[in-house]
Amino acid sequence: MDRQFDFLVIGSGIAGLSFALKCAPLGSVALITKAHSEDGSTNRAQGGIASAVEATDSVESHIADTLEAGAGLCRVEAVRTLAENGPEIIRQLIDWGVRFTRQRVNPQETYPYHLALEGGHSHRRILHADDLTGAEVMRALLEEVKKFPSVRLFESHTAIDLLREGDGEGRCCGALVLDRATGETERVLSRVTVLATGGAGQVFLHTTNHEVSSGDGIAMAWRAGAECADMEFMQFHPTSLAIPGADNFLISEAVRGHGGILRNQLGEAFMANEHPRKDLAPRDIVARAIDRQMRLHGLDNVWLDVTHIGDRDLRFFFPNIYRECRKYGVEIEKTPIPVVPAAHYMCGGVKVDTNSETTIPGLYACGETSCTGVHGANRLASNSLLESVVFALRAAEDAKRYLAMPAPKAPAARPVRRFSPMGAEWKDEELELRTLMWKKVGIVRNDADLADAALEIEALRTRVDIAWKNSPVLNLRLSRLRNLSQVAALLVEAARLRHESRGLHFSTDWPEKAPVAEHIVLAKGKEPRREV
Ligand code: FAD
Ligand code: SIN
Repeated sequence: MDRQFDFLVIGSGIAGLSFALKCAPLGSVALITKAHSEDGSTNRAQGGIASAVEATDSVESHIADTLEAGAGLCRVEAVRTLAENGPEIIRQLIDWGVRFTRQRVNPQETYPYHLALEGGHSHRRILHADDLTGAEVMRALLEEVKKFPSVRLFESHTAIDLLREGDGEGRCCGALVLDRATGETERVLSRVTVLATGGAGQVFLHTTNHEVSSGDGIAMAWRAGAECADMEFMQFHPTSLAIPGADNFLISEAVRGHGGILRNQLGEAFMANEHPRKDLAPRDIVARAIDRQMRLHGLDNVWLDVTHIGDRDLRFFFPNIYRECRKYGVEIEKTPIPVVPAAHYMCGGVKVDTNSETTIPGLYACGETSCTGVHGANRLASNSLLESVVFALRAAEDAKRYLAMPAPKAPAARPVRRFSPMGAEWKDEELELRTLMWKKVGIVRNDADLADAALEIEALRTRVDIAWKNSPVLNLRLSRLRNLSQVAALLVEAARLRHESRGLHFSTDWPEKAPVAEHIVLAKGKEPRREV
């Protein structure tokens, strides 16, 4: 069956919802999301949204901090767009109903909302809603989007592949989508398609990401022929809760911004010797320092000490972290929190221009799926929620032009393929892939491990491809593994091509930074390209 809309938005996180809200007055919008509408990284976001909103701060300072964290690889134009639009986007979020935490009564303050500090920022500029910023954003944006009759929300609908006009070389004209309730696929045809499928943390064994973050958008875009860039730069968050069963629950960087100190088993504040900003150094530096401490002392984790902050502030600023740690038996006002790095954020993704259009006409990518170049080789904390809204709104503005053009012509429909409910098939293979990525493509890399990983991933992809082509009934777990292994392959390929250490990519075989910063651009059937 075919459905026709003006806009197809794949993913209902902050990026997809922002795009949908902007386009809702202009035409019909299909907003498809593979699980519940709240599921994804946005809902988990804690620290907040960075913007130079306060009188003593400046856009220039936000730009400088972003560029410094990005280790020479950021696209300066994109960073400027991000920082300059920040204050306006904060006003937009407030207009959409987001309730940020206000200042506690203090006549000295010049700005009504409380501003937190995080790693790599030289100024307090993080707006937040307690330590549940993302959940508050999701509440407000979902409420807002439901006011528009032109937006149709399809939960439990998974995009499987993109569709392109004619012989598969033309404009994007929608996607093949699985309705999980019926196990049947349908074609959702559109004038404009937006990938807002979030990140790919699930490629690694340990991650702060929700199960839905399996890199589907990147894999679909690559299969359709779009360019992907900076895929080697997976950000590991330094502090996820290191307790079995806690699912790498995040301990926000804002906790260190509030005075939290990382310590080893001897109680040493080891960040003091690592960077002038100590515990608030850029994330790549903190994650590597923790990794080093763990290897040096044979530790399974290090500790984040907040016992000096005081019960009152901890409960006030971090109510969720306070509760969640207590649930796992850690009374954070009395005991240091066991923490370990975990895969957190994909800096690379589907390459887009400053309007968030991919290299396929009519296909946009927003949020974590995209690579705008804002983050370069390492994302500055709390820049991604902002990036998602800034570039989703730019995409929506740009995409209007497609409404004036004739609708793209869909390719001839293929026979419908059925999906069986998710069973245990391919579960072991997924676990093996994620373990391989954790062990061989993690925080510190080397050529031999990357070469091993490439071989194993290639063998897995061959098996997955054969099963995908030949199985009479498909399986969502196979579809997931098809995407995970694709993203893993791109990540490893880019990492192997980068003969230097820069930002999040650190190789013991190439410890120096190369004199020229280059982006590695990958596309199906084409030679890898380097771009300055
Ligand atoms: P998501 O919010 O992940 O949404 C992706 C959507 O796509 C979901 O609805 C998902 O179901 C859907 N989807 C995926 N695949 C498919 C498919 N095949 N078909 C249909 N639907 C699909 N950033 C900050 O700036 N500040 C923070 O404080 C912060 N804290 C964070 C805390 C945690 C624990 C994590 C994991 C991330 C945090 N980040 C933070 C990063 C930030 O939250 C994300 O980068 C951002 O929310 C991404 O938004 P998104 O809309 O791109 O993706
Ligand atoms: C955090 O709260 O530490 C997460 C912030 C981010 O990932 O930007």
